[in-house]
Amino acid sequence: MQPLPLGSAERLFTSLHRRMMDTGYAPTPWDALRPEALSDAARERARAAWSARSVSEYRSMVVFGEVLARVPEAGLPLELSSAMSRLIQDEARHTELCATLAERLGGNDGALDPRDLRLRDDTLPARLFVARWTVSMFCVGETASVGLLGELVHGTTDPCARHVCATLLRDERLHDRFGWALARTLLPRLTDDEREWLGAELAFSLRYYEQQDADALRPDGALLPAVPDAPPNAGVVSREAFARGFYTRLDRVILPSLAALGVPAYEAWALRHEAPAE
Ligand SMILES: [Fe+2]
Ligand SMILES: [Fe+2]
Repeated sequence: MQPLPLGSAERLFTSLHRRMMDTGYAPTPWDALRPEALSDAARERARAAWSARSVSEYRSMVVFGEVLARVPEAGLPLELSSAMSRLIQDEARHTELCATLAERLGGNDGALDPRDLRLRDDTLPARLFVARWTVSMFCVGETASVGLLGELVHGTTDPCARHVCATLLRDERLHDRFGWALARTLLPRLTDDEREWLGAELAFSLRYYEQQDADALRPDGALLPAVPDAPPNAGVVSREAFARGFYTRLDRVILPSLAALGVPAYEAWALRHEAPAE
């Protein structure tokens, strides 16, 4: 495991980076962070949560970079490459915000597994590689994260942490829209057999994200009840609130939209427990 590689002594890097991170965004009100308003346990939960988020945001940046590298080979338009580069900057912003918040809550101990710095299925032809990660990272991951961040914005009481959540949500809404535009562009070019193959890959992704985002809290078909307001917190809501955010997006967007694009999404959902573990 290794720490996040944050900080550069090269002024050209840092000035360009700051411009990309900050232009068009209100400054984060770091002075409004109130760790002292939290119990020791709540502060530790928040610190650990933001540390873990800094790693997963960095991982998103890595994955988008690898997908972008194969977009030209997949025959996709220039505008798509250019637009996608914006998403990499956004994930860098999210990494930095999450890491800073963890630091200010007591320390960022997020660590990278070197295996997370490289995707493993790069032997796939480019259009299947891009399609596989579009469905997994965008159509499931980014779409679900809009639901999770909506719950976080709603339930977070600390004004600074809430501001960070709102910044992430703003960007993830764009990523969600980008992902579906990419899916609409790419998936119709696949053959029926290739979309069937994507369905099998999707079963694995659904199982992974359901476990990670929602703790697999819902028996199939059940509606989750509204969740009471969270106690004072700096970006930690209940498992039930996250589960509600995940399943709402699953029901309303992920499964119907993928099915409409010809991916056997409902079958994948039904068979997700039979997908091989990673
Ligand atoms: Fe992100
Ligand atoms: Fe994102």
